[in-house]
Amino acid sequence: MNTLTIDIRKAEPRDADAIADVHQEAWRGAYSGIIPHRALTTMINRRGADWWANAIRRAATVLVVEIGGRIAGYATIGKNRARELKQQGEIYELYMRPEYQGIGLGSRLFKAARSRLADHGLKGMVVWALEDNQNALSFYTGIGGRDVAEGIEIFEHKALKKVAFVWD
Ligand SMILES: CC(C)(COP(=O)(O)OP(=O)(O)OC[C@H]1O[C@@H](n2cnc3c(N)ncnc32)[C@H](O)[C@@H]1OP(=O)(O)O)[C@@H](O)C(=O)NCCC(=O)NCCS
Repeated sequence: MNTLTIDIRKAEPRDADAIADVHQEAWRGAYSGIIPHRALTTMINRRGADWWANAIRRAATVLVVEIGGRIAGYATIGKNRARELKQQGEIYELYMRPEYQGIGLGSRLFKAARSRLADHGLKGMVVWALEDNQNALSFYTGIGGRDVAEGIEIFEHKALKKVAFVWD
């Protein structure tokens, strides 16, 4: 029997390549056909390994979930950016490689992110998701998020609605 170890930890600069890869695969999988092609490609290209290495070295908190030595997903977390919402923490991004989706790793990463924010003294948490990203909406609803606010994000002249989920 093979035993796969699952580890959730803070990212290190050596993870930058793998995270850039997860980012590219997960964003293409989640947003192709939602975010206009050119805008999506520009966003993906901007976030290469150098960008991630820099994000990891600076204050940004990047968490990774590693399974059997492979980076399967990442989350970035920090202070809530939306002043109109009282929750203090935020998960800015939470993405799994397509082949690792739907097997419970996203929920584990979510819980780890939430407890890390709480450990930093941040009360409550927000996550934004595009309204057209049905998978994300069912995922956040399924793990107890309350959908409390809406916003608009513009991608190359295309306006897309986004939804804020909160946990107190
Ligand atoms: C959304 C995402 C982070 C969820 O992580 P995951 O590891 O796939 O989810 P899990 O396996 O932990 O599933 C947790 C729950 O969400 C539900 N869920 C997960 N993926 C789902 C999907 N595609 N459709 C419907 N429900 C889904 C599961 O049914 C599960 O519920 P259960 O525990 O009652 O069975 C991951 O699928 C992902 O990265 N998707 C693409 C990128 C994305 O949309 N990220 C969020 C951007 S805001």
